[in-house]
Amino acid sequence: MVKFLIYFCIFYLAIKIESIQTLKRSFVVDYENDCFLKDGEYFRFIAGSMHYFRVQPEQWFDRLTKMRAAGLNAVSTYVEWNSHEPEEQQFDFSGINDIVRFIETAQDVGLLVIIRPGPYINAERDLGGLPYWLLRNNPEMTLRTSDPSYIRYVRLWFDVLLPKLVPLTYANGGPIIMIQIENEYGSYQACDFAYTSFLRDYVKSFVGDSAVLFTTDGNADKYLMCGKVDRVLATIDFGPKQDPTSSFAILRNHRKHGPLVNSEYYTGWLDHWAEPHSKVNTTLIITTLVKMLNMNASVNFYVFEGGTSFGFTSGANYNYKYQPSPTSYDYDAPLTEAGDPTKKYYQIRNTIGKYLTLPELPLPTPSKKLLFGPIHMKKLFSLFEVLFSNSNTSTWLNPKSFERLSVQNGFIVYTTVIKIHPSDPAVLKINHLHDRALVFVDYEYQGTLSRMEEINILPINAKHGSRLDIFVENQGRITYGPLINEQKGILSNVTLGNTTLHSWTHTPITENVLKNILMNERSLNITKIDSSRPNKLPNIFNGSFVLPNEEMKDTFLSVNNWRKGFAFLNNHSLGRYWPAVGPQETLYVPSSFLNPYPHVNDLYLLELEHAPCYNADDCVAFFVDKPSIDAQTPYS
Ligand SMILES: *[C@@H]1O[C@H](CO)[C@@H](O)[C@H](O)[C@H]1NC(C)=O
Ligand SMILES: *[C@@H]1O[C@H](CO)[C@@H](O)[C@H](O)[C@H]1NC(C)=O
Ligand SMILES: *[C@@H]1O[C@H](CO)[C@@H](O)[C@H](O)[C@H]1NC(C)=O
Ligand SMILES: *[C@@H]1O[C@H](CO)[C@@H](O)[C@H](O)[C@H]1NC(C)=O
Ligand SMILES: *[C@@H]1O[C@H](CO)[C@@H](O)[C@H](O)[C@H]1NC(C)=O
Ligand SMILES: *[C@@H]1O[C@H](CO)[C@@H](O)[C@H](O)[C@H]1NC(C)=O
Ligand SMILES: *[C@@H]1O[C@H](CO)[C@@H](O)[C@H](O)[C@H]1NC(C)=O
Ligand SMILES: *[C@@H]1O[C@H](CO)[C@@H](O)[C@H](O)[C@H]1NC(C)=O
Repeated sequence: MVKFLIYFCIFYLAIKIESIQTLKRSFVVDYENDCFLKDGEYFRFIAGSMHYFRVQPEQWFDRLTKMRAAGLNAVSTYVEWNSHEPEEQQFDFSGINDIVRFIETAQDVGLLVIIRPGPYINAERDLGGLPYWLLRNNPEMTLRTSDPSYIRYVRLWFDVLLPKLVPLTYANGGPIIMIQIENEYGSYQACDFAYTSFLRDYVKSFVGDSAVLFTTDGNADKYLMCGKVDRVLATIDFGPKQDPTSSFAILRNHRKHGPLVNSEYYTGWLDHWAEPHSKVNTTLIITTLVKMLNMNASVNFYVFEGGTSFGFTSGANYNYKYQPSPTSYDYDAPLTEAGDPTKKYYQIRNTIGKYLTLPELPLPTPSKKLLFGPIHMKKLFSLFEVLFSNSNTSTWLNPKSFERLSVQNGFIVYTTVIKIHPSDPAVLKINHLHDRALVFVDYEYQGTLSRMEEINILPINAKHGSRLDIFVENQGRITYGPLINEQKGILSNVTLGNTTLHSWTHTPITENVLKNILMNERSLNITKIDSSRPNKLPNIFNGSFVLPNEEMKDTFLSVNNWRKGFAFLNNHSLGRYWPAVGPQETLYVPSSFLNPYPHVNDLYLLELEHAPCYNADDCVAFFVDKPSIDAQTPYS
């Protein structure tokens, strides 16, 4: 009996202690003392952004540990709706989309978590992270507003996402201290407070007060005006060239009290194809960082680890012209795309060490990379020889958009037969083309139309009865600004001379279609075609190799002399390559994509424009141990 009583007392005490500890776990804003309170004590975060969807899950622990080793006490990530619900009501939380595992990994390495669930995120991702099928279901939908047809899908998505986050909030025992409402909403023209307050209430209905809700906007009154939301902590974002004192003064115009927060302190900047690689000076980063930290501000480095937009996931900007983003999201960040610490990393760490206690973790160093090659690439077939018999086609009087045909990404080949007697040459014209088209008449390359270059007419040599193929590439949906709701593909009629061409067969080539073609390469129906310049057709190349019997390393695929295309390694999408315009010339290859000795690896290139060899059967590719993402570009 006594024994029982003792056990009972211990048991009771244990419960008591636990409930006291649970009571103690709180993360709130102290508006009186202009700071955060964590478990009732003064707290500020020095965080870094890393997007789980841009880093392979095998590397999350490594990258997060390196962030912790830099002295950061939190990691910030967007949640990308599109990667979790690529098709309506088909959810994916596995592998690279396992956000719960990512958050738990952060907690394991001692980082708190700041979640930015949008649902719009920008992040230089296709359609700013929104699923393309919103535009299919209702092309008139006004994205990022209280338009009921949009809100309906946001609810359905949040009903799936938010219950996964609730147990992970700080007060509930997890690492999530903050949750963002929308993203830089003040930069969007809609200024729809009904929408942002709906988001606030909806998120709150799940998480209650278990984490702090916040908004982020640019450091100008015009942004804060429409971006701030009642009863949500307003924060701002700005880079090292901006003055913290005047920037935070602008925040104070809109919010008298509470902690000062720079939610996106830019360590670098985004890139566009054909424009120079962005770089930001470390000295400047440190100088401005010190000013902010001396003001007791909380800071989140955007980004601390940039990663990669694998597959067709990168988006585009539109600033007077269409500007697609490359595959690398290195961002000139403190940790490179391959997770290597830079001088910027060490200097930031030294500075943080003056404000927070650095953890007892070994100082990371750059990892060794694989140098390998040449890999001999053999032409397997032209895409035209396998496409039409191995893909779903549909025929319409006038051209249809990607969205209308439920084509998420990649390409659509628009094919018709010319039924008129055209002039020679005859002018082919497409008023609205998104984004780039290779034009073929009877499998002879005629030229390229390009939204980037604002080229929408092309003289072609065709005759009555000729087959016309317009091979249209979606180079990434727009991520920012008023044009986010635009569609992809041929969006107008196509004319030849004065005649509108009709009866178009549409053949989609999504990432999945490509993977199907490559993985079933041996059982494909091949329809041989004749072309006088076979090297000017979109061709698929394959190279097999076995790595040396040694430790696996990351590497970079060098496709320097190739022109433009898409690379796959063992059924992993490495992403788009386009060394012809730069600035990116190599593609990052995480070691987890490679098969170790003695297993065979298969590298596939879909070269759209021109392989670096005359008869296309002795081309080579290399794995190099240094990235090239800062090459010469046409524009400065
Ligand atoms: C960075 O800025 C500092 C101070 O303005 C300057 O001395 C230094 O040369 C710059 N570094 C680079 C690489 O431009
Ligand atoms: C920063 O916080 C410390 C400790 O609370 C305080 O003594 C100091 O005055 C604060 N500095 C500023 C600029 O607010
Ligand atoms: C290949 O062609 C044959 C005969 O036309 C057809 O039965 C088969 O389904 C085709 N295979 C594929 C993968 O389309
Ligand atoms: C064609 O469409 C059907 C039904 O939508 C689908 O199951 C099949 O996978 C598609 N085939 C290809 C090659 O895309
Ligand atoms: C395309 O042309 C047809 C007539 O051939 C016309 O009815 C239709 O409105 C045109 N569509 C566009 C988008 O211009
Ligand atoms: C095309 O139409 C324009 C105006 O409708 C006319 O002036 C021109 O002669 C036509 N060109 C051809 C090649 O038919
Ligand atoms: C191409 O890929 C297959 C695997 O799908 C592989 O067995 C073959 O050896 C590769 N290389 C060449 C040159 O065909
Ligand atoms: C290739 O990857 C896709 C997912 O992207 C998967 O559905 C498919 O089963 C994989 N194929 C092989 C042969 O591993």
